[in-house]
Amino acid sequence: QHHLQPYRTGFHFQPLKNWINDPNGPMYFNGVYHLFYQYNPYGPLWGNISWGHSISHDLVNWFILEPALSPKETYDIEGCLSGSTTILDGPKPIILYTGQDSDKNQLQNLAFPKNLSDPLLKDWIKWDGNPILTAVNDINSSQFRDPSTAWMGPDGKWRMVIGSEINGHGTALLYYSSNGFNWTRSDKPLHFSSETGMWECPDFYPVSSVGKNGIDVSFQGNNTVHVLKASYNGHEYYVIGSYDPQTDQFLAVTQDFRVSNMQLRYDYGRFYASKSFYDSAKQRRVLWGWVDEGDSELDAIKKGWSGLQSFPRSVWLSDTHKQLVQWPVEEIEKLRAKQVNMKNIELKGETSPLKVPGLRASQADIEVFFSVTNLSDAEQIDSDVFDPQLLCEQKNASSSGSFGPFGILVLASKNLTEYTAVFFRVFKGPNKFHVLMCSDQSRSSVAEKVDKSIYGTFLDLDPLHEKISLRSLIDHSIVESFGGEGLACITARVYPKIAINKHAKLYVFNNGTKNVTLSSLNAWNMNKTRIVPIG
Ligand code: FRU
Repeated sequence: QHHLQPYRTGFHFQPLKNWINDPNGPMYFNGVYHLFYQYNPYGPLWGNISWGHSISHDLVNWFILEPALSPKETYDIEGCLSGSTTILDGPKPIILYTGQDSDKNQLQNLAFPKNLSDPLLKDWIKWDGNPILTAVNDINSSQFRDPSTAWMGPDGKWRMVIGSEINGHGTALLYYSSNGFNWTRSDKPLHFSSETGMWECPDFYPVSSVGKNGIDVSFQGNNTVHVLKASYNGHEYYVIGSYDPQTDQFLAVTQDFRVSNMQLRYDYGRFYASKSFYDSAKQRRVLWGWVDEGDSELDAIKKGWSGLQSFPRSVWLSDTHKQLVQWPVEEIEKLRAKQVNMKNIELKGETSPLKVPGLRASQADIEVFFSVTNLSDAEQIDSDVFDPQLLCEQKNASSSGSFGPFGILVLASKNLTEYTAVFFRVFKGPNKFHVLMCSDQSRSSVAEKVDKSIYGTFLDLDPLHEKISLRSLIDHSIVESFGGEGLACITARVYPKIAINKHAKLYVFNNGTKNVTLSSLNAWNMNKTRIVPIG
């Protein structure tokens, strides 16, 4: 199969064929993980949008069921758009989703399981009270979508947010309900920003300030802060703040929503319309995001499919409380097969890349730790505030500095005609060192009409006292990278022509003038996940 379809993944979720976009309503219920997603059952481009439905016992292997929701009613005939699940008392899960009618008006709808004793919750019934909300007053009916998971306040009422744009401002509209079925709008939104346009797929949840465990949305207690995420401008922006459930005030503690490469994001590459859920089995918060294609519609038609889900990530608050940390869920380790390792290797400045032998590097999990010493010769920059994306574009993998670029070349062909470079660079600003992380796709393929953007961000770590680490999940056409043990993520899609399947190699490189130590490298061939339709 990979011989004819070199870009299909081995351990990232995708249906057997056709189009997918946003993850919808992920949940853990009755011992089963459910993942729904925007899905076109009839083709590889956006259309006929249904809620694809897959279930898993381990977030790794999946059974694909029939779509849970299909566009059939007047209120969703032009698509069952994104939404979320909420587990009401009972426990009884419901789906809240956006429907689009024949005039492309967006309406909110509700569905519930036909048979709660079916462990897979195969069949979903659309409530006959639908639509539950229509766009009235100042709401534009084409900018009213993606209801969040609902949470309960101390007054026993449910709350949820819906993405919108009101008077040109990106907005999370707030709604109340006593039963989860009938909703009324609050006279003030949960949050908005005059710096952005329409907010899609808002997500709102507490995180613990005292450890890595996740917290369920309705938790009332101490030692939490809240995360509000909004999707706009092609990215997943989030803000950490304090939320008062008595007044429904959310006050940003980190920089408030804006359009900037310096704004906190879940991912600085291709990753959009994400959704998190509380996994009560392992007391963690798990995040899924849509990773779209960087090739053309014609390519999608040729491949017969389009879109991936990221590998699910655990999310928690960093020690600094200033950002989130993300890491692939531990179940990924079940897929690890043959291991390769290297230790304490001095990577001399500006030497040729070092090949990591013995790995099937088209489908691998790689973790590397670098250390640098004596940073007094680091490249100087004259400000402590600069655009990391721009810097990665200007100083790409082939432009030599002093400390860096050093990192890995993945999906690389034998003579390095093709490679994707994931690397670091250390700079010395007026007041501190800056660790830049880049994912450079500019040499990823000899094909011309595929996206080869360069992505970049900073890692909030001290390179004098901490190692600089990189974990990359390499899976044929996706490179999902975690810098600084999850302080920053960059996901890229690439379409190599030569470096496919067994022709894909892995290298470690140092293209700076200064030596860097490769403290350790551990890499694993990854087994394929089972994704089995049981219709
Ligand atoms: C985000 C989004 C959502 C919408 C869905 C439609 O990618 O545009 O706002 O509900 O996709 O498929």
